[in-house]
Amino acid sequence: VREGTPLHTDRQQLREVAYASSDLLGDRAALYNARVPPLDLPRWVAERLPALPGPIIDVGCGPGWYLRSTARATGRPAFGFDLSEGMAREAATAPEAVSQTEVATGVADAQALPVRSDSAGAVLLLHMLYHVPDPELALGEARRVVHPEGVVAVMTNTHRHLGAMRELFALELEAAGIEPLANIERHFDDVSGPPLLHRVFDHVEEHVLDARVELDRPGPALAHLATARHLYAEVDDDRWQAVLGNVARHLVRAIERDGRWSTPTSTVFYLCRR
Ligand SMILES: C[S@@+](CC[C@H](N)C(=O)[O-])C[C@H]1O[C@@H](n2cnc3c(N)ncnc32)[C@H](O)[C@@H]1O
Repeated sequence: VREGTPLHTDRQQLREVAYASSDLLGDRAALYNARVPPLDLPRWVAERLPALPGPIIDVGCGPGWYLRSTARATGRPAFGFDLSEGMAREAATAPEAVSQTEVATGVADAQALPVRSDSAGAVLLLHMLYHVPDPELALGEARRVVHPEGVVAVMTNTHRHLGAMRELFALELEAAGIEPLANIERHFDDVSGPPLLHRVFDHVEEHVLDARVELDRPGPALAHLATARHLYAEVDDDRWQAVLGNVARHLVRAIERDGRWSTPTSTVFYLCRR
């Protein structure tokens, strides 16, 4: 497995390729429509936020799924920031309006937030710290801007997340002579994350959400894997398609045999207080 590739924290790659728009993120997220048992994660997070002493700051807000659910559930103004201008724009112009609540977005880096100290009721860092070059610096920024009575909510995938799917993909890459990339989420997951959280915050409460994705057709898994294409830029299209074709055949065989194919999902949520 190739280690140390900087692509997953490279600003230009993040802004112009991976998150120029929500297209690739949407293809990845669509896999979770097959989650068993079903879970509306933006709503689950919103329900975990206590009464807040100030607005919500959603850092790395992406297309604003959590921005809107938390604004709606808490009635608090919500401000989203993202490194990608495309994402910040999408989050601000998303179709479902949040009635009666102020929602605005802008471009900013998690490591230097344009937010006053001690002012936020909640700071959200959801599925994004593994893209930040210095996650501890971003956690320190969140601690700086959050009100003394506020919360910092962090979510990431554990090292078990999508295990069977990742293993299958890695095996087919290797069979094609392609070295699999290390899982980018290792940069901030349930193993690498907690030591940083405990250095920055006095109180850290942990919730693990384990479930599985069950598929009766290969499409959602293949669409998810296809979003990694830009990380394998040196692989030509024929070899890439051959790898995905082999994954597809494996999934189809398993579904014909067992009626379905499944892979674990595992997400961890940390509610932190200063
Ligand atoms: C996987 S998406 C998650 C989006 C959203 N938080 C969610 O959970 O649906 C990661 C987002 O973090 C943004 N991002 C990456 N590095 C960032 C940074 N240093 N500062 C702010 N946003 C960043 C990306 O542009 C992308 O929109």
